[in-house]
This record gives sequence, structure tokens and C-alpha cells, in this order.
Amino acid sequence: MKRIALLTSGGDCPGMNAAIRSVVRTALSLNLEVYGIEQGYKGLIENKLIKMDSKSVANIIQRGGTILRSARSETFKTVEGQQMAVNVLKENKIDGLIVIGGDGSLTGAKKLYDDFKINVVGLPGSIDNDIYGTDMAIGVDTALNTILKCIDTINDTASSHDRTFLIEVMGRNCGYLALMSAIAGGAEAVMIPEVAYDIEGIIKKIKKRYEEGKTRSVIVVAEGVGSAYDFGKVFGMIGGFDTRITVLGHIQRGGSPTVFDRILATRLGTAAVEALMEGKSGVMMGLQKTRIEAVPFDEVLGNKKLIDKKLLEIAEVLSR
Ligand code: ADP
Ligand code: F6P
Repeated sequence: MKRIALLTSGGDCPGMNAAIRSVVRTALSLNLEVYGIEQGYKGLIENKLIKMDSKSVANIIQRGGTILRSARSETFKTVEGQQMAVNVLKENKIDGLIVIGGDGSLTGAKKLYDDFKINVVGLPGSIDNDIYGTDMAIGVDTALNTILKCIDTINDTASSHDRTFLIEVMGRNCGYLALMSAIAGGAEAVMIPEVAYDIEGIIKKIKKRYEEGKTRSVIVVAEGVGSAYDFGKVFGMIGGFDTRITVLGHIQRGGSPTVFDRILATRLGTAAVEALMEGKSGVMMGLQKTRIEAVPFDEVLGNKKLIDKKLLEIAEVLSR
């Protein structure tokens, strides 16, 4: 292994830069040449490779987003597109590729490994925390902290006006961000795609809480359940609550990564380079308990990450 390349793909997340820095500096310390590919698979197809040195990753560990930029590429989803990407890797004599991204990006990485025998190691980077094989993906902790700040802030104004707030959070089809932020933010209810919701039950609970003297209610809605605006109308009409909606949107994807994300991304970045050096490929490096483990792409992509039922129970009991 002489020359490796790395790219960031799909939705960006805080901590991608810390991972890039870690990959580059670990690789350099092992006398490898490292190339950064701009704009994910799109940039790979377009041969957008830049040689990285230690200085090129200076002063980025604290920055959200990705200095390599990210993109989504429909062309890469086709066999022709994948062949173009492979040709670029071969022309540039790249011996190993590190892909940082969500399950879509890892699916692309698996194609390169399975169908074209490219040495690929993946790193989980997505705020959604929907990637099997890692307890936490890069960016999740920062996104949760951002959401928490917003819930706490909204709580202040909600209490002053005796209002019911629906706060819509990201997560695609996964309710992790919603569930964890609802628990940590002391929300009255949470609606996630993994569990059937009971609007009448939530309304009953909120009414009871108001009768007991509570001056506000917060319901966290995962985007995968539907629009908080639509649910808001129902809560207003049936419950008779003074209801307001906040859709947090892309604010959840940016910002300076937390300590947790910086350390996780750094550990994963180092592990990815070491894995390539040890001849490992077709794997994602993931956090399992406190250890970094290599998990085969087949296992990562062949399984669905489930919501912890105990956490659901805790959310329910503590919001009664
Ligand atoms: P994420 O990686 O955050 O889940 P996407 O699902 O948008 O984001 O995937 C990012 C990119 O990964 C896509 O634009 C595409 O280039 C590539 N990709 C996604 N799914 C596939 C697939 N089934 N086959 C090949 N490449 C894929
Ligand atoms: O996968 C990360 C994510 O932020 C999801 O939570 C969200 O559904 C999606 O990406 C938004 O994608 P876009 O950046 O294309 O708006």
C-alpha cells in the first residue's frame, strides 16, 4: 500500500473534518501518499483529486462540514458510473480508498469492493445514527447537542405562554435523534417512525399535565413520521392547545463538533488507515461499546439498526 485516497459523501456532518485530519496525518506517519477527493463520488468520477499534506488539514478539527465538500451522485449509482470511478482510481494508482458517509455512501463503497475488487474501508458519518455496526456515527452527538439547545430555548418561551410546541427533528427514517433529544430535553411526548403513534393518547396526556399546573408542553416529532405542521393542526384542533411549530432543519447538520465527535472521528480515521495497511477491506470501522471494530459491509448493510426499547420505555415513564 503506497497511495490512498479519501472522500466524504452524502449528507455532511460535524466531525467529518476531524476524520479527514486523522486519516491524512496517520497515513503520512506511515509514509503513505494521501489524496483527498472533492465532492464525494461525483468528484471521483470527475477526477477531482488533490494531494494532501499535514498542513492541508491544519486548523480543521473544530470546524463543522467537510473541507473536501460532499455531494450526491446519481451517475455513480449506475454500473457505468462506478466503472468511471474505478478508472480514475486506477489512473491515479490509488491502492486504497476511505469513504466517509451514511448508509448510501457505504452502499456505494460496497459496490466498489464487491464488483470491482477495490480496497475500500468505510467510516460511518451521518447525524441520523441509522448505521448498523456502530453504536454512534460521526456527527450524531453534535447534532443532539444542537437539538437540545433548541429544545431548552423553546421551553423558555413555551412556558411563558402556556403553549404546546411541536419540534421537528431530522433523522430520515430513523427516530434516534428524536427519541434521545426528547428524553434529554424532558419532552412530554415523542413521535418516531419505529413506533405507531397515538395522537389521542398524547392529547389526553398533555391535557392532564396542563390540569396539574404545567405551563407548557413539548412534543418532539421525527421527520420520518410526517410533517410537524400537519400534526400541529391536529393538536390545535382536537386538543384545543395554543400550538406552535418549529422545524429545526439543517441547523442540525452544522456547527463545531463536540469532544465526543472529535475523538470518535479521530479514532475511526486512524483505524481506517491501519485497517488498509493490515490488508483489511470491504469493512466499516465502527464503535462497539468502547472499542473500534471492523464490521464487514455485508453485515452493516444487511441489517437494520433498531431503536433501544428500554429507551422508549424510559421516555414514556419519565414524561407521565
Ligand atoms: P448518505 O450517504 O448520507 O446516506 P445518500 O443516500 O444520498 O447519502 O448517498 C450518497 C451517495 O452514495 C449517492 O449520491 C450515491 O452516489 C451513492 N449511493 C447511494 N446509494 C447507492 C447505491 N445503491 N449504489 C451505488 N451508490 C450509491
Ligand atoms: O442523512 C442526513 C440528513 O440530514 C437527514 O436527516 C435528512 O433527511 C437529509 O439528510 C436531508 O438531506 P438534504 O441535505 O438533501 O436536505
